[in-house]
Amino acid sequence: MSERETTVPLGDRSYQLVIGRDIRRELAGRLDFLGDGAKVAVVTSPELRRVYGDEAVERLSKAGFQAWVAEIPDGPGHKTLATASLLYDQFVERRMERGSLAIALGGGAIGDVVGFVSATYMRGISYVQMPTTLIAQVDASIGGMVSIDHSKGKNLIGVFYQPKLVLIDVAMLDSLPDRQLRAGIAEILRYAVIAAPHLFETLEIRMEAILSRDPQVLTALIVDSCAIKAHLIGQDETGRGVRATLYYGHTFGHAIEAVTGYGRLSHGEAAAIGMVCAAEMARERGMIGSEFCDRQRGILQAAGLATSCPGDVDAGEIVDAMALDENVVGGRIRFIVPTGVGATEIRYDFSSDEAERAITATR
Ligand SMILES: NC(=O)c1ccc[n+]([C@@H]2O[C@H](COP(=O)([O-])OP(=O)(O)OC[C@H]3O[C@@H](n4cnc5c(N)ncnc54)[C@H](O)[C@@H]3O)[C@@H](O)[C@H]2O)c1
Ligand SMILES: [Zn+2]
Repeated sequence: MSERETTVPLGDRSYQLVIGRDIRRELAGRLDFLGDGAKVAVVTSPELRRVYGDEAVERLSKAGFQAWVAEIPDGPGHKTLATASLLYDQFVERRMERGSLAIALGGGAIGDVVGFVSATYMRGISYVQMPTTLIAQVDASIGGMVSIDHSKGKNLIGVFYQPKLVLIDVAMLDSLPDRQLRAGIAEILRYAVIAAPHLFETLEIRMEAILSRDPQVLTALIVDSCAIKAHLIGQDETGRGVRATLYYGHTFGHAIEAVTGYGRLSHGEAAAIGMVCAAEMARERGMIGSEFCDRQRGILQAAGLATSCPGDVDAGEIVDAMALDENVVGGRIRFIVPTGVGATEIRYDFSSDEAERAITATR
């Protein structure tokens, strides 16, 4: 089993991202920061429990930890205070202590809830991320930006709270539905555009292998994506500077998600359309050529992702929704626009009209 490691460099809160096939089997041996016999809650969904959760508890118990499974619902609509509350109840019932550990075994929804609950239960206990979706493996599990949704808006309640370890088992993607794999590819393309021309080329040349889940190609993409995110977080933990480039495609994407009522398009699917819009806006200004736009669209189409806004959604409504998003700073909408493969700018000087024209142009 070959494995790769990257450090998220945050001084005494630094941690490792360990990536490899079947790496989940090494979990117990990597918890050397925990006291002997500590309580370990493996937090997962009922479905993932059957595939990976019970197995994890068995291994942890054999290693001498007091391990148990906490079940919470996951997926869209469940990243809520109600789900967090279910988890607090189980932590209290099992008498989890300050020195106990929570393990988030699931996609971004589980990762965010577990991170948030860990940050607040007894003023903070340690947690480990074991992401099981592609989006969570390349993005959500890294960086400690953990939050839950409010009925009026996504991710409105949250904190920055870093995990102790991120264990990325690429073999877990074998069971992931195709639609979710595609959504993860959109997030990888985002890294390629902001920071990695070689990743852009891999996406252009190896899409067939990626979609058929070729272990080597997929692992290399995950390793590169993790390295980019780790580097950005090391430079800017809370997103006030360079980390904001991660929002490439997301200013449009979040608004598209909101206007289409969360759920019709997944986060990654909306970000894919958002990247097409952002590139088109830059092209209209003359900041980037149409060749870039065509290449980017080609990758998304090869991945099976939509590249235009749904026809029944009003472009003006999408732009209005942008004004309510976390991408607004001092009343101005922040856009990340590409200026080349591997180069973006953070800009506040694009007008609503330009954004609306870009959305319309994708149709
Ligand atoms: N904290 C961050 O920085 C960050 C970044 C990106 C996204 N997010 C959040 O992540 C959430 C989306 O996460 P997601 O896209 O991972 O989806 P998800 O967590 O909602 O999971 C989607 C579904 O896939 C299932 N699933 C997960 N892993 C599986 C596997 N290996 N095999 C089969 N089924 C599996 C889950 O049970 C669930 O039903 C959103 O709430 C988003 O806000 C957070
Ligand atoms: Zn995203």
